[in-house]
Amino acid sequence: MCGIVGYVGSKPALSILMDGLRRLEYRGYDSAGVALVDGSGVSVTKAAGRISVLAAQLTEPMSQTTGIAHTRWATHGAPTDSNAHPHTDASGKIAIVHNGIIENYRALRTFLDKKGVKFTSDTDTEVLAQLIGLSYDGDLEEAVRRALHDVAGTYGIAVVCADQPGLIVAARKGSPLIVGVGKDEYILASDAAAILAHTSHVVYLADGEMASITRDGLQTTTLDAIPVTKDIEQVEWSLDQIELAGYDHFMLKEINEQPTSLETCLRGRIDLSEGQVHLGGLVDRMRDLVHAKRFILTACGTAWHAALVGEYLFEELIRVPVETEYASEFRYRNPIIDEGTVVIVVSQSGETADTLAALEEARQRGALTLGVVNVVGSSIARETDAGVFLHVGPEIGVASTKAFTGQVAVLAMIACLIGRRKHLSASNAAQFLEALAKVPDQTRSILDQADEAKKVAERYVDRENWLYLGRGYNYPVALEGALKLKEISYIHAEGLPAAEMKHGPIALITEGMPVVCIATKGTQYDRIMNNIEEVRTRGGSVIAVATEGDHAIEELADVVLRVPDTLEPLQPLLTAIPLQLIAFHAAVLRGCNVDKPRNLAKSVTVE
Ligand code: G6P
Repeated sequence: MCGIVGYVGSKPALSILMDGLRRLEYRGYDSAGVALVDGSGVSVTKAAGRISVLAAQLTEPMSQTTGIAHTRWATHGAPTDSNAHPHTDASGKIAIVHNGIIENYRALRTFLDKKGVKFTSDTDTEVLAQLIGLSYDGDLEEAVRRALHDVAGTYGIAVVCADQPGLIVAARKGSPLIVGVGKDEYILASDAAAILAHTSHVVYLADGEMASITRDGLQTTTLDAIPVTKDIEQVEWSLDQIELAGYDHFMLKEINEQPTSLETCLRGRIDLSEGQVHLGGLVDRMRDLVHAKRFILTACGTAWHAALVGEYLFEELIRVPVETEYASEFRYRNPIIDEGTVVIVVSQSGETADTLAALEEARQRGALTLGVVNVVGSSIARETDAGVFLHVGPEIGVASTKAFTGQVAVLAMIACLIGRRKHLSASNAAQFLEALAKVPDQTRSILDQADEAKKVAERYVDRENWLYLGRGYNYPVALEGALKLKEISYIHAEGLPAAEMKHGPIALITEGMPVVCIATKGTQYDRIMNNIEEVRTRGGSVIAVATEGDHAIEELADVVLRVPDTLEPLQPLLTAIPLQLIAFHAAVLRGCNVDKPRNLAKSVTVE
């Protein structure tokens, strides 16, 4: 949610920190701040609002070569100047930026109040700053270590102190931190996007680890001061992947990337001649997967919709019971995990707090856990027993698009891989994989007709209520289409299994209400046509997503958006795309900030 950047080296830190903040702004954007440190003290500048507001206050050249910075998504305390990070201790010598939540901050604040500490903000982070200040006796690393021993909750932190101006102390528990290793310089960040302009060599801090970083080196230890040796790893993403490359919006760039992101996702993984799938990350677990008695797929948001498609795919291809659970519900229930239950967590970022907690719950109960994750090195990727990366490249737009299709493609490959070892014949598997291999090109042909989706947005953009209907494999797509529209254009939209409309939501349909019906050819076609009739009878305006060459639909629908024909289980990979485009254009037409919608964050690292 929030973003952290830190720099220690020989260059002026400010411009590096501000560039990093801009690249992390997609993670949170209600306030931002920076602390620069040298022998004369710590200089903190912070402001409510976007990074540009902060930048306007930082026009003077600053020569400090060490600093920390933060972009915030408010949890404790409103997004005001005083609640923005960095926070300082009472002496003003120590400054901290923090992602996560200090759960016992009230108790700590009472303790500090009794010691006479005066607070200047409402945040849990300032409590940590004051606690470090109280523990400080000339050694910043020790002070941070002592303070963290009293803290319950999650954190990724970076701390600086005027007495040790060339030092950043960092620590993590439940909130990611990566250290970019340059030549005589280190860039600390919560996300590789802030590092890539400087280096692709990184050290991933693990939970419960600390780092003391100076321009001369990086020392990593546990919270109990036991030294830890870390490998320097290579980030697979490149700088151009995180830039707009001529687009005005990351979301449109990422929608248009789907032909290539899906190609990369599938590359080297499907063998058409043998009807086989090769997923290196699962090789050692095949025995457990083939003998699994039950799968639980868990995720949040768009990833949950992809998981729901996965449920249908697994049931059909593997023929075992499958349940899809919201991670936030799974973690707080008393889930039944028998021997033979495999839990698959689906997450673009690999850092979503509820998904991580669901993973932890599953692990504690002894389940084999798999990750379907995009970000290499992320917490979920590290903590699952095995998994498959999406390889769709970085996704910056808050509304998830290419990650959704990547997640569905990976789940389709996993279903085929396991199914093939069970009931799926070689010829059926080959047919399935041939259809999957065609999907990237088919998405290209949908994008060629993107203007049709734009016209839908233009025609209906003033309507404040939309319905999205789908059946079978396209029911999760209806949910996803509605989520896309509401999250970026703030139009109220509801996605439903089409037949459920009759049990209540049909009462909403009035003259001209836009109802998006996913009505592709397949087993559910006749039934959804009936639902379309029901919508028309009540005056609803039908926007159909239909298979190329289906002319019957033209009689019933007000608008038809076309997708190429494919096997029914793979239709979500195609039908989702016109819905992404409608949402994008509606948001642009309504003047919304497409990539940074209000109140949202790309990666929700608090529960
Ligand atoms: C946030 C994002 C969604 C995303 C969800 C899950 O709500 O705005 O786009 O689907 O988190 O994120 P994950 O990274 O776990 O897939």
